[in-house]
Amino acid sequence: MSPLKVLVTGAQGFVGRYLVQALLRHEHEVVTAGHRCAYDIDLTDKLAVFRCMKEVRPDAVVHLAAVSNVPYAWEHPAQAVEVNVSASIYLLEAFAQMQPQGTFLFVGSSDAYGLTAKAGRPLVETDLCQPQNPYAISKLCAEQMMLQLGHRLGVRVLATRSFNHFGPGQAKGFVVSDFASQIAAVERGEQEPVLRVGDLSAARDFTFVTDVVAAYVALLETKGIAPGIYNVCSGQTHEIYEVIDGLLQFSLVKIKVAKDPERFRPSEVPRFVGSAKKLQEATGWRPRVPFLEGLGRVLEDWRQRVE
Ligand code: GDD
Repeated sequence: MSPLKVLVTGAQGFVGRYLVQALLRHEHEVVTAGHRCAYDIDLTDKLAVFRCMKEVRPDAVVHLAAVSNVPYAWEHPAQAVEVNVSASIYLLEAFAQMQPQGTFLFVGSSDAYGLTAKAGRPLVETDLCQPQNPYAISKLCAEQMMLQLGHRLGVRVLATRSFNHFGPGQAKGFVVSDFASQIAAVERGEQEPVLRVGDLSAARDFTFVTDVVAAYVALLETKGIAPGIYNVCSGQTHEIYEVIDGLLQFSLVKIKVAKDPERFRPSEVPRFVGSAKKLQEATGWRPRVPFLEGLGRVLEDWRQRVE
């Protein structure tokens, strides 16, 4: 396909950095917008968004920027709506003015399924969404708004529901990074040889970050793809104790595992599994990085990081 000029928001985040690299490798032109980006603008400032879009005139947008921290969104629900919903609207409206035939990729969350995940079977895009926290509610609201506005304005909107992802560069607070960072600290002699963990019985559908961004690029590059919702997930479930087992295989020292009540959560969806069938059939995308290899790469990254 001919190279696209892609406007990326959230380019400074964990996923954004990988996405920019992947787009450049595919010879697309990338322009970044948002805090600390080439266009250093506040995405909730409608005028600034319209001005930026007019100057850049991208062929496509990938909108990653969001309030994505669930506890933070509980504390600041109005801000979650302003950033996750209003800024998305401004971007889509501004884009539609410049490029009514373009593609707008909205990155959403599997958290939108909420309670429905309790069914334990792989979730499909037509399943009922029952979001359980302000972050998930705002993402679902934005997703639906993007799809309806896109339809009205003629822009092709692709909205992902992205499941758990992991990889080098991810912050603490996510399970793989939380465990790998502790193992690296023990290896350096900075922590007693005990891995503190929360609930190990839960199961999640993990995808390595390079595979996640490959899915976003595939969605952008697939000619004639139908607008709508696409799960981005591996379709494979891993119980959290498998994360520990996997990481400990690479550990250079012997480490005990201890339950830490502080790491348990008040409410927990036990299994969160998706079906990637729709994405795979539409784009031919397949995850490439095996789970264990991905875990090893995260641990290696934490060994190199100086905190
Ligand atoms: N973070 C963390 N730290 N989780 C732990 C720990 C620990 O020490 N011990 C056990 N867990 C369990 C959690 O209780 C949860 O069941 C599972 O590991 C995964 O936790 P996270 O990596 O924090 O991810 P999450 O599933 O709660 O949420 C993430 O994925 C969603 C997509 O489904 C976040 O990225 C959400 O923003 C996202 O929407």
